[in-house]
Amino acid sequence: MEYQLGLIGYPIKHSLSPWIHQQFLEKTNINGKYHIDEFVPEQFENRLLQWKEAEKYHGYNVTAPYKQRIVPFLDELDETARNIGAVNTVVNQNGKIVGYNTDGIGYQRSLEKHFPEIKDNKSINILIIGAGGAARAIYYTLNQAGFHLIDIANRTLSKAEDIANLRTRESKTNLITLLQAEENLSNYDLVIQTTNVGMMPESNHSPIKLGNLKKEAIVSDIVYQPIRTNFIRDAQAIGARIHLGHSMLLFQAQFAFELWTGKSPSTEGMDEKLKKLLEG
Ligand code: ATR
Repeated sequence: MEYQLGLIGYPIKHSLSPWIHQQFLEKTNINGKYHIDEFVPEQFENRLLQWKEAEKYHGYNVTAPYKQRIVPFLDELDETARNIGAVNTVVNQNGKIVGYNTDGIGYQRSLEKHFPEIKDNKSINILIIGAGGAARAIYYTLNQAGFHLIDIANRTLSKAEDIANLRTRESKTNLITLLQAEENLSNYDLVIQTTNVGMMPESNHSPIKLGNLKKEAIVSDIVYQPIRTNFIRDAQAIGARIHLGHSMLLFQAQFAFELWTGKSPSTEGMDEKLKKLLEG
């Protein structure tokens, strides 16, 4: 049997997912292909129906701008995807098309890989900057994992409030402005940048200034193009520990691959290679 996997989104011509999944197929000795299917929003419904009818697909990834738009076309959503309200992984389970979201777990796995001590310290003070889809997935997953001090800073506070309403476990979440985040930054042990500020081509911008950052804090940026954002460079200059965005990409892919094949590929050696690919 040959696994048929793939990615839908727009634009995705430069996606690194084909490279990652090809490595996983080789590492697990699974025979398969990872197809890439870029289609414009006007073609979404027609093309998606073609994918659904093509029973040959075992599963596929979904990326921007279709992570929410795909939901009504699926037969079922797993609990995490339902709560987050977005799907990045689809699995064909004997003809039943089920949506999952592996972004939050991908973030958590990558964080714990680089900073294993985090696993045993659920009482750290966390700040998430941004309240878009990625922030939703990360907040939900960290809350589920037992982290219980997670504040959210966003330009639009109502969106931060929507995210805080996702919490299922006892936790304390303050909703703050970007300016308050800047002023109170010394409170946080982990700062997670999830907005698209700093992404190419606006790579010389940051959502907040890091002057008040604790020196021993961990600073994550989920943006990976550029690989070192302005935000990350500022954090490095202060001496903070940094966590780069390509690592979340790698681990969300690992969990998707597990859902499709039942095998967990090792990511050994891939973090550095992916970083090099992104550095061009
Ligand atoms: P994703 O799905 O990648 O998380 P998104 O859902 O479009 O992306 O969310 C983008 C996030 O970046 C939002 O938190 C957005 O803030 P608003 O909720 O106020 O729109 C934030 N963002 C985008 N541009 C920004 C800017 N110039 N300054 C501050 N925040 C910005």
